Amino acid sequence: MNAMKSIAKKTILKPCFLLFTFGIILLAAASLYAAESDAELINRAKAIFGPLPASMPSSENPITPEKVKLGTVLFWESRISVDKTVSCAKCHPLGLYAVDGLRKSVGNNCKENPRNDPTILNAASQISEHWIGNRTSVEDQAKQALIGPPSFGMPDYGSVEKILKGMKGYVAMFKEAFPNEKDPVTVDNFAKAVGAFERTLVTPAPFDEFMQGNAAALTDQQKRGLRAFMDTGCMTCHFSPFVGGQMYQKFGVFEPYQKYTKSQSVDEGRFAVTKNPADKFVFKVPVLRNVAETPPYFHDGSVDKLTDAIMIMAKIQLAKDLSPAQADDIAAFLGSLTGKIPEAALKVPVLPSSE
Ligand code: HEC
Ligand code: HEC
Repeated sequence: MNAMKSIAKKTILKPCFLLFTFGIILLAAASLYAAESDAELINRAKAIFGPLPASMPSSENPITPEKVKLGTVLFWESRISVDKTVSCAKCHPLGLYAVDGLRKSVGNNCKENPRNDPTILNAASQISEHWIGNRTSVEDQAKQALIGPPSFGMPDYGSVEKILKGMKGYVAMFKEAFPNEKDPVTVDNFAKAVGAFERTLVTPAPFDEFMQGNAAALTDQQKRGLRAFMDTGCMTCHFSPFVGGQMYQKFGVFEPYQKYTKSQSVDEGRFAVTKNPADKFVFKVPVLRNVAETPPYFHDGSVDKLTDAIMIMAKIQLAKDLSPAQADDIAAFLGSLTGKIPEAALKVPVLPSSE
């Protein structure tokens, strides 16, 4: 009986042992293959997206610490709005990744803005600003916001300058930031200071660590999502270190966008800027950094869930149907673009007194 048991054990053990060794070899081969394909994935990603710069400089508005300091303060300033309630920070709260979370932002006297607010993080290196590209730079954007009827709503630039000049604290700070100017308290310098601040708002993320060669910075699902993002063709429009912001494209290449977004009204996009019929429904391809943190999605905030936005993009931009699992993977990859907001930007500054 005992002998029989031991024979049985041996015969069972042998194939088990073989299977085990074979399994080890397979595992080793698989991990070798995975290591190779990680390296290949890193290289492919590097070629399409490239390294995130430390800041977003401009030759017209060099970043200086004094300008950034003033810009950080001005970002919170609401006394220069027509009802004294509107600051940049109202609609771009930095702790919320610089978005208000509304479908459409609300400005002075509760006026609704025509579009959803994009984040100002990683925003300064785009071909233009705003969804339809009607602002040339962050400086141009900041200046025009002051007289934007649904934004600060001031009647003219002169009235903004008058208010700022009435506060001694600001006069001193503008002098420090623009030392060679006789009359530094101007809206152009307001725009330069705020712009310089915005140019520092870069948010390094796990995806950057991955591109620097740390394969473990992304989970397996995020890697699958990155592959799907590239293989599906998302990166033909969403490329550069900012994963967008570099071109204009029609929203709804294959089908009208409102069919899927269920938008209440239809926005003609860049047509409003150029009056060229070819620009109907054309929008700037948005930056996707921190996108997981900035719902609702699209220029009109019509879509709440990131996976829905991803499915819609594949359908109407690329005529491809993603499976829910693929959309989840891509959403996980986009989550790896959630970065670290600069500490300095997260501190609420003390503003000059009203006198
Ligand atoms: C009332 C809310 C509101 C206020 C106040 C506001 N913004 Fe915005 N911001 C928006 C909305 C809405 C958009 C999108 C406008 C569009 O595309 O039509 C936007 C767009 C932007 C963009 C463009 C981002 C991109 O990717 O195109 C930047 C930069 C920006 N705002 C910075 C600022 C700064 C700086 C201030 C203060 C001077 C400011 N905003 C004040 C709501 C606001
Ligand atoms: C042909 C160019 C093009 C392709 C390809 C493309 N996109 Fe887009 N994407 C855009 C444009 C343009 C918008 C802005 C749409 C609008 O007006 O709201 C956008 C918007 C988005 C948004 C919303 C961002 C926000 O802040 O609201 C997400 C998310 C997105 N795209 C992801 C993807 C994914 C994922 C893919 C691949 C499945 C993809 N895109 C393919 C051009 C493209």
